[in-house]
Amino acid sequence: MKDIQISKLIKAEKERQKKVINLIASENVVSKDVLEALGSEFTNKYAEGYPGKRYYGGQTYTDKIEILAQERALKLFGLSKDKWHVNVQPLSGSPANLAVYVGLLPSDGTGKIMGMSLSHGGHLTHGHKVSATGKFWKQIPYGVDPKTEVINYDEIKKLAIVEKPNIIVCGFTAYPRTVDFKKFKEIAYSVVLADGTHPILMCDMSHFAGLVAGKQYPSPFEYADVVTTTVHKTLRGPRSALIFVRKDKVVKDKKTGKEQSFADLIDKAVFPGLQGGPHMNQIAAVAVALKEADTSAFKKYAVQVKKNASALAKELARLGWYVVSAGTDSHLVLVDVWMFGVKNEKGAGAITGSEASDLLEKAGIIVNKNTIPGETRSAFDPSGIRLGSAAETTRGKKEKDFVLIAQKIDKVLRSK
Ligand SMILES: Cc1ncc(COP(=O)(O)O)c(C=O)c1O
Repeated sequence: MKDIQISKLIKAEKERQKKVINLIASENVVSKDVLEALGSEFTNKYAEGYPGKRYYGGQTYTDKIEILAQERALKLFGLSKDKWHVNVQPLSGSPANLAVYVGLLPSDGTGKIMGMSLSHGGHLTHGHKVSATGKFWKQIPYGVDPKTEVINYDEIKKLAIVEKPNIIVCGFTAYPRTVDFKKFKEIAYSVVLADGTHPILMCDMSHFAGLVAGKQYPSPFEYADVVTTTVHKTLRGPRSALIFVRKDKVVKDKKTGKEQSFADLIDKAVFPGLQGGPHMNQIAAVAVALKEADTSAFKKYAVQVKKNASALAKELARLGWYVVSAGTDSHLVLVDVWMFGVKNEKGAGAITGSEASDLLEKAGIIVNKNTIPGETRSAFDPSGIRLGSAAETTRGKKEKDFVLIAQKIDKVLRSK
């Protein structure tokens, strides 16, 4: 590379990534093939529109790439082309979720998104007020049970019946446990909206998509109407997102009475609604990652991701740390470090999430500070840290390594 400044920074970042233990739950380490596709000549190509319906010439190969990405996405999750449509163009997870709402929710200020509140593990785009999704639509937040720290489906059902949301979002950014998608479907069916329909059930499987692909986490596809996912977390692909939607789902236009499919409405919301030209290099890289995830090696990886997270959670708990929900069923472990003192001679409030994250970074362990259910501190300096096993499992670490990582975390945090 001729640009010495940038080249130096790329090298430095590469070295940084090599040196640290990366426990950021939303990150991973992609293959050389994914990087090669990202850096390919598809970067140069404008391809506004969809395969066969583009606004620019020269689409012979872009169409092939996009169709391959679609086919591989459906195959990976065992979906039939007759029943499911997939849009592979969203630039990332947040625009993907926004596109679903733009396509399917009322735009007159009456729309309601029922999603998990941020402090309990939901994502900003599940209707939180600082996100566009909470400005254009009203969030009906649900949380976890204060005692068990897991989802209480009866409470969500009661709230849904009263609030009648247009869409119920399940899937999270900091919830370590599995989700009962059947129960969410029953909740959606228990609500009847003014037009006689039920709320749409959307699953945002961004965090656990790789585990679903590797059959280590329940699949939402049997129950959800729409499934969104980022590609860059446990799925181990480039930064990007996918929207899966059932082909038989339709909406009746209030004025004309004409039926429009969810799939058409979402496609239109992605382009031209929210985006211009798709990033074709990114879509090429998505296709590569989806093929990689459709292998027995990836299934083994998903098994190991879960085993490693479980080993990490168990060892931290054994050492006296407060593991939220008392464990994990996924790649993710949430630790209330502020609570540490309760079981420790230092007394409650010995260390905050920010302090923990900073201390660990100095010791070469990268985590993120995180709110915990029922947070009593601020989002900027919360009580918890979120840990994930996806990246270090890609680098070959096993349970015994994660036990050692837990012991190192314990030592570093006790040194405060
Ligand atoms: C559940 C969930 N949905 C959506 C997103 C948004 O993805 P992006 O950062 O690619 O916009 C995230 C990101 O962390 C997430 O955890």
